[in-house]
Amino acid sequence: MTERTAVSRMPIAPDGRLLFGGDYNPEQWPEEVWADDVRLMKEAGVNSVTVGVFSWAKLEPRPGAREFGWLDRLMDLLHAHGVGVVLATPTASPPPWLGRLHPETLPRDENGQTVWWGSRQQFAHSSSAYRRYAAAITEDLAKRYGNHPALRMWHINNEYCTFDYGTESARAFRDWLRAKYDTLDALNEAWGTAFWSQHVETWQDVIPPRRAQYMRNPTQVLDFRRFTSDALMECYVAERDIVRRHSPAHVPVTTNFMPFWTGQDAWAWAEEEDVVSVDAYPDPRDPLGGQYNAMIADMTRSQARGPWMLMEQAAGPVNWRGANHPKPPGLNRLWSLQAVARGADAVCYFQWRQSRQGAEKFHSGMLSHAGEEGRTFAEVRRIGAELTGLGAAAGAQVPADIAVLHDWHSWWAGGQEGRPSSHVAYEEVVRAWHRALWEAHLTADFAHPGHDLSAYKMVVVPQLYLLSDAAVENLVAYVDGGGTLVSGFFTGVADPDDRVRPGGMDARLRQLFGIRTVHEWWPLEPQETVRCGEFGGTLWSEELAAADGAEVVAAYRGGELDGFPAVLRRGRAWYLSTLPEPPALRALLADAAAGAGVRPPLSGLPAGVEAVRRGELLFLLHHGRGEVTVALPDGAAYRDLLTGEEHTGSVPLGRFGVAVLGPVSKVARGSGAA
Ligand code: GAL
Repeated sequence: MTERTAVSRMPIAPDGRLLFGGDYNPEQWPEEVWADDVRLMKEAGVNSVTVGVFSWAKLEPRPGAREFGWLDRLMDLLHAHGVGVVLATPTASPPPWLGRLHPETLPRDENGQTVWWGSRQQFAHSSSAYRRYAAAITEDLAKRYGNHPALRMWHINNEYCTFDYGTESARAFRDWLRAKYDTLDALNEAWGTAFWSQHVETWQDVIPPRRAQYMRNPTQVLDFRRFTSDALMECYVAERDIVRRHSPAHVPVTTNFMPFWTGQDAWAWAEEEDVVSVDAYPDPRDPLGGQYNAMIADMTRSQARGPWMLMEQAAGPVNWRGANHPKPPGLNRLWSLQAVARGADAVCYFQWRQSRQGAEKFHSGMLSHAGEEGRTFAEVRRIGAELTGLGAAAGAQVPADIAVLHDWHSWWAGGQEGRPSSHVAYEEVVRAWHRALWEAHLTADFAHPGHDLSAYKMVVVPQLYLLSDAAVENLVAYVDGGGTLVSGFFTGVADPDDRVRPGGMDARLRQLFGIRTVHEWWPLEPQETVRCGEFGGTLWSEELAAADGAEVVAAYRGGELDGFPAVLRRGRAWYLSTLPEPPALRALLADAAAGAGVRPPLSGLPAGVEAVRRGELLFLLHHGRGEVTVALPDGAAYRDLLTGEEHTGSVPLGRFGVAVLGPVSKVARGSGAA
């Protein structure tokens, strides 16, 4: 078990006011519009805006020039109107001149093609020129605004996500590998270069996994992903350290994650942040969009180990899906309050005012093209007003008895070419498991397999193909210590070098789950199901022999695996060798959870109603369009913080309805931060 070093997270809402606002890009507008912006921000209850995310060319129109006048005026204006600023370093989008003067700052893709300016994020993370210019503009920005009274937080770069296969990246990759392996012998051994004549004799022959004739060396690919995440993090840390030097200690630093983005080991990154923030864009048309929003919240809260910041969401449609659907009335409010229920202390959007030009002019804003009379803005105003009354949530924790284990390294290794099935998408498997818990009304955290798990009554592993020895021992110790562990298929197969463990699955795990032999993996076709006892399995099946003492909870029926165990259990450790269809997975996990003493916050919840506790508050969130009634525990009286109404016995919820219930006595006294 790896001890997580104590990270002291900084409060996001130190004055007990949840943050509400969004990215504000005033450089896209004549200054006359700014006065209108601040008037409407006030009207909408906006108390925080993120400024400067893509302002590099405006701040430094020529190499070394500094144009701070507009930003001075803007910071002062926002401050005068009580709007705090999350100030961004503009380094996600270098100006065209940087690419012209220093072509080496432009990334190369796997084919060696240059990624040109003309969009954004065209920076090569390991380019020394890029890092030099980024540090210089960051330093001057921090010196100028580090003590500005409007400054609330620093926002470094934006959604770090670029890969680079170019020359400087190759050099940095070699340095990273030298630090990891020390010798080429060790690298050759770890990468298994005896295969296909890949042995490297000099460091010059070590390159990024550029385009090749056929499947590339999987450990090279895995290490390159690890390196890329680390190289991007170095860029973040360098800027973070600069802004910290020039601002008071109470100003936190963040960088916004894309949720479940494959390019970043966000467990590691989160340890370097004062505030953990994320951008959440579930599809309004997805019937399970609410579940996805919950999963993003659970992951971000777990990375933050407490309150987190919703840095971006959309007030209406995005503009990067096939068809970009608006949010039907009430959905923006529902998902915003859901984020608060699951630990957010800030609810923000991309972006404040919808653009009229540029690539994102059809992406919604809080203030859409329809303007202040528009439906979108009316809902934004309502959300702003309601958040003002939810100070009792600020800083409060969300209790969870269950942890879902997730690890980027396992994702990177397990998702490569040449595996038993290319139909298994790791993120979909994780989502299926989270969905099962969500539908069973069980609140879950996420955790890394190396974390201390002892606080959880149940731990689930949707799939961890790669597990280190330490992680395996952590899981065994967790069960030995009284924990309930439920694992999905194709887990514990490889070691951290992506070397298959003897027997196809770690021996300690086989012992834990009661598996004597893994004979074969039998992946399924995308629409295929396999009968297992009473339910259907999808995606995968396994030909397993059970060990003595293992209980066969469900066996395969029919087909090649007829009679073989599908779900095995030894004591508190369960192994699911397939992905059960949603109702079956839900029932199975609810059953295991009940056995572990985990119960939903309320019993008898109607389908589609999510109930989450945060501090002393109970959030009820209705994801459906009809009317439902939620039964409350006998004898308890609650007050809904949103309406002020008192409820005993039950609460009615309409279409996308939300109630935030506090105990009557506390709320009547108007208790502040929990
Ligand atoms: C985010 C990005 C924003 C904006 C938004 C649109 O990924 O950080 O700048 O592009 O997407 O959905």
